[in-house]
Amino acid sequence: MDILPYILAIESSCDDTSAAVLQGKRVCSNIVASQDVHVKYGGVVPELASRAHQQNIVPVVDHALKVANIKPEQLSAIAFTNGPGLMGSLMVGTSFAKSMSLALDIPLIAVHHMHAHILAHLIEGAHEEALVFPFICLTVSGGHTQLVKVSGPKEMEVLGETIDDAVGEAFDKAAKILGLPYPGGPHIDRLAKEGDSNALAFARPNLPNYDFSFSGLKTSFLYTLQAKVSQDETYVQNRLADICASYQKALIDALMLKVKKAVKDTGIQRVAIAGGVSANSELRNTLKRWGQEKGISIFVPPFEYTTDNAAMIGIAGYFNYLAGERTPLSTGAKAKIKF
Ligand code: KG4
Ligand code: ZN
Repeated sequence: MDILPYILAIESSCDDTSAAVLQGKRVCSNIVASQDVHVKYGGVVPELASRAHQQNIVPVVDHALKVANIKPEQLSAIAFTNGPGLMGSLMVGTSFAKSMSLALDIPLIAVHHMHAHILAHLIEGAHEEALVFPFICLTVSGGHTQLVKVSGPKEMEVLGETIDDAVGEAFDKAAKILGLPYPGGPHIDRLAKEGDSNALAFARPNLPNYDFSFSGLKTSFLYTLQAKVSQDETYVQNRLADICASYQKALIDALMLKVKKAVKDTGIQRVAIAGGVSANSELRNTLKRWGQEKGISIFVPPFEYTTDNAAMIGIAGYFNYLAGERTPLSTGAKAKIKF
């Protein structure tokens, strides 16, 4: 009987340093070191992120191997994120992966970060009911907003994406205006629970295709608040929950509009969400309610596979490995990379 390969996976595209060991589609370990250093700046500072990756990478990889109880000699390949992401951050994981593959004389496998967010759904045990192809995936995070038709592990078509800010960024920027800590998405989520989502109206984006736009909504948010505060200085303080609920609703409506359009146009009855914003409780509830109403299966991954993590790089690396993909040592990190 063939033993499924052990793959070490490394993710360092933004502000999380992560390493995982997978055997086939099974996660043996998934270690994530987040970087608190950015909190006081209200956003990710690229130079600080790459320095923190350099400090974290060795202990994180070591920890992942220990938790999986695997010796480096047992590994069959090393998968790593080569893009898209912050250049300095990507370079740390890329150089580390290359050195380790050279030292162990095992294949190197480059992984596209956005493919990995989607393929995280195929990790063994990620869902009670296995997700089968084809499905529509909405990937929503601080750096990405994409709607993808997924027909197989290597067959994906981007239907639409944001033409300006990512939806997570729209959450975080509004939270900053409200004086909430970074990242603001979870704070808006929490505060919105007590608020009236119809209290305020914001200009809704209106693109004809599957693309998204959030910069206009953010500007509408700022102008609406400025007008309210000019009449009543205590407005934000007194109506914080209503403001959060209304703004969150506007963001979710914009996402749902395109998800519904994709399902209607393609006839695909399975929808998955990925990325940090998929932790948003109202987005999850809205999707689930709609799914129940329309008989559409909704797949929400476990939280640890939703935000940036190396297990998702491992599963994508495994599919690349099965497809015979091997990455030459001359391959570098790429901040921008074709989907
Ligand atoms: O995937 P992720 O951890 O990192 C990348 O950006 O790649 O996503 C982080 C984003 C942040 O913008 C954060 O505010 C948002 O996900 N986020 C949320 C929630 N939890 C995290 N946004 C809304 N509601 C949440 N509960
Ligand atoms: Zn990501």
